[in-house]
Amino acid sequence: MNAIPRTSSLDSTLALHREGYSFISKRCDELGTDIFRTRLMLHPVICMRGEDATRLFYEGGDVTRVGAMPSFVLRLLQDKDSVQQLDGEAHRRRKAMFVEVTMTETSVAAMAKRFRQHWLDHFKGQEEDCDLREAANLILTRAAADWIGIPPLLRDDDGKLAHRLARMIDSAGVPGPAAWLALLSRRSVERWLREVVVALREGSIEAGEGSALKTIGLTHRDADGRPLSHETAAVELLNLLRPIAAISRWIVFVAHALARNPQWQERFQRGHDDEMEGFVEEVRRLYPFFPFVGARVTRDIDWRGHMLRQGQWLLLDLYGTTHDPRLFPAPEKFSAERKLTWRDADFRFIPQGGGRPETGHRCPGEMITSEILKETVKLLCRPPVEIIPWDAAIPLGAIPASPVPPLRIARRAAAVD
Ligand code: HEM
Repeated sequence: MNAIPRTSSLDSTLALHREGYSFISKRCDELGTDIFRTRLMLHPVICMRGEDATRLFYEGGDVTRVGAMPSFVLRLLQDKDSVQQLDGEAHRRRKAMFVEVTMTETSVAAMAKRFRQHWLDHFKGQEEDCDLREAANLILTRAAADWIGIPPLLRDDDGKLAHRLARMIDSAGVPGPAAWLALLSRRSVERWLREVVVALREGSIEAGEGSALKTIGLTHRDADGRPLSHETAAVELLNLLRPIAAISRWIVFVAHALARNPQWQERFQRGHDDEMEGFVEEVRRLYPFFPFVGARVTRDIDWRGHMLRQGQWLLLDLYGTTHDPRLFPAPEKFSAERKLTWRDADFRFIPQGGGRPETGHRCPGEMITSEILKETVKLLCRPPVEIIPWDAAIPLGAIPASPVPPLRIARRAAAVD
């Protein structure tokens, strides 16, 4: 067996907070390896990157997500009893529910249509410049709540909801007061979604045919043949609402890429819709969102000549893998000509996980993400919207990353439709 290289420092937590997205790759490069040992929050961890490591995480069943994230991160991003915490047949059955709800052409088109409509309504008559992420987060929250099928009657303040959803994502990077507030937000959103599920099951509201609310709240059966508990149904509804609202972060990056590459803005003004997918997928490769995912080994395995013991904590470097020059030549260059697509379900282009979403833990929301981003390109290019500043920096030390200063869209956005 080959020894796994080790960092010289006893614990790397401070370095991780300082370096953010580049933490794993920087050490891999220094040690001349794609795998190394260190400690985070005093716990031993093995960090990995690349195609083979992605296979270990997304196929074969040698790892689990249970016990792989600090509990505040788990509560903010997925939660216990959610699909991400299941393995084997239980996972496949629950995941089929997500695939049914999020991965059909009809459901994706319905989501994109609602997004477009809410965008146009939001900016109609808009007189002031506005913060793009904030606006997009609210627009997506409204579109997602409609698309899921939550009746307006049970939604008293979409603005507050949008704010709470954003807080969960914004605060998942660092423990502390912001994360505690985000956990409180989470609890109140979960309580409200539980009430929605109860109202549906008691018959005091109806869910539209084919809606996510109907599938999750009424028709789905888990591997044990039972419907989801009220609580778990609320967790999984939140597992749609929160990440859809989080697409606002990619929307900001799409705007940043358009502002930095005006030649693409011009191409899209003249049509060229067939090139949009390559453009938005390159945004998902290049820009920083999920830095890494965690897992634990379920049995002792010999992995590429290294012994990985049962229970070992692992981190897979998503950002480092999509910026590896061996996999993506000139990785720091924005190049929509790479023609990347989520459809390939491969193990290298992994901003939202790798492999097949039906069988592994890959994100089931990539189709929706990609369609929303294509719709965004149209909304920002036809007619052209001014994005300011065009040259904002995106520091990699903060997780999740955002442009500094935040991007704004100028008054002319109001001219749309
Ligand atoms: C899983 C990222 C959007 C629902 C994942 C995973 C990543 C990810 C990296 C894999 C986690 C793991 O391997 O443990 C993102 C990013 C998004 C996004 C960056 C951009 C906003 C969405 C959307 C939805 C969604 C729009 C739903 C409509 C889920 C669910 C899982 C998941 C339910 C768990 C899947 C499983 O464990 O089988 N996401 N996602 N995500 N995502 Fe997304």
